[in-house]
Amino acid sequence: MDPVQEFNASAHSYDAFSDIQKEVGLRLLGYIDGLPLEVDALVDLGCGTGWFTLEVLQRLRGVQEVFGIDPAPNMLSLWKERLPQGKAILGKAEDPKVWEGLSGIDLVVANSSLHWVGDWQALVDLVYEALRDGGCWAFNVFAKGSFGEIARALGIRFPAEGFLSLEEVKGLVGERFALLNFEVMQLERQYNSLLDFLRFMKGTGARTGRRFLSRERLRRAEEDLRKARGGLRARAEVGFFLLKKG
Ligand SMILES: C[S@@+](CC[C@H](N)C(=O)[O-])C[C@H]1O[C@@H](n2cnc3c(N)ncnc32)[C@H](O)[C@@H]1O
Repeated sequence: MDPVQEFNASAHSYDAFSDIQKEVGLRLLGYIDGLPLEVDALVDLGCGTGWFTLEVLQRLRGVQEVFGIDPAPNMLSLWKERLPQGKAILGKAEDPKVWEGLSGIDLVVANSSLHWVGDWQALVDLVYEALRDGGCWAFNVFAKGSFGEIARALGIRFPAEGFLSLEEVKGLVGERFALLNFEVMQLERQYNSLLDFLRFMKGTGARTGRRFLSRERLRRAEEDLRKARGGLRARAEVGFFLLKKG
């Protein structure tokens, strides 16, 4: 299954399993809290089930229009249930079609979604064109190699191997935007078993790249990780960006 199909299939379990996405989302909301910006029109990229969009809306006054963009139809219909006043747009953030008719946007946000984007150059240009002068873009992304220790112990390849590094993202957005804030978070979470970690991945739609792993393989990987690290820790690097047009 491609990543979008995985997200689509996991839409109904997403809210129950997405504590990591919530943790990084809450940190991103800190950027929006302090933003000296009148927001009339808001876009959420990779909006998922809508919990994050709602939190953003609660922090802003006077938003007239809210758009949620996501390529997974099941995610988008949950978003629409949560935000009946919003405009749901089906498609990938880097697809010019989803941006048709969107201009003069004040704020674009994206929590835990843009590492899935295939064409970052296109994305940067599209967000730039849609924002008004002085408009802002606040997002976070998981970096290349996130959760790599677990992948290596299991002998498989996680999709995060194909994500961009934070320096690459910084370089791309820096070509067009002013960088108001950039921070790197080293995320670390302890799991009781690798199965718990894999359940989190599956429940949120983040692919692990392999359907079947034998009990023996899991046991050996757990043993290796415990020996090397003293426990089962999932580690990821997450970059937080606040950008301004003009
Ligand atoms: C981990 S979820 C995050 C959802 C939501 N932003 C949140 O804070 O819970 C990632 C979302 O990104 C969406 N996605 C995947 N590829 C995408 C792309 N190329 N453009 C926009 N969204 C994408 C998925 O369908 C999924 O809903």
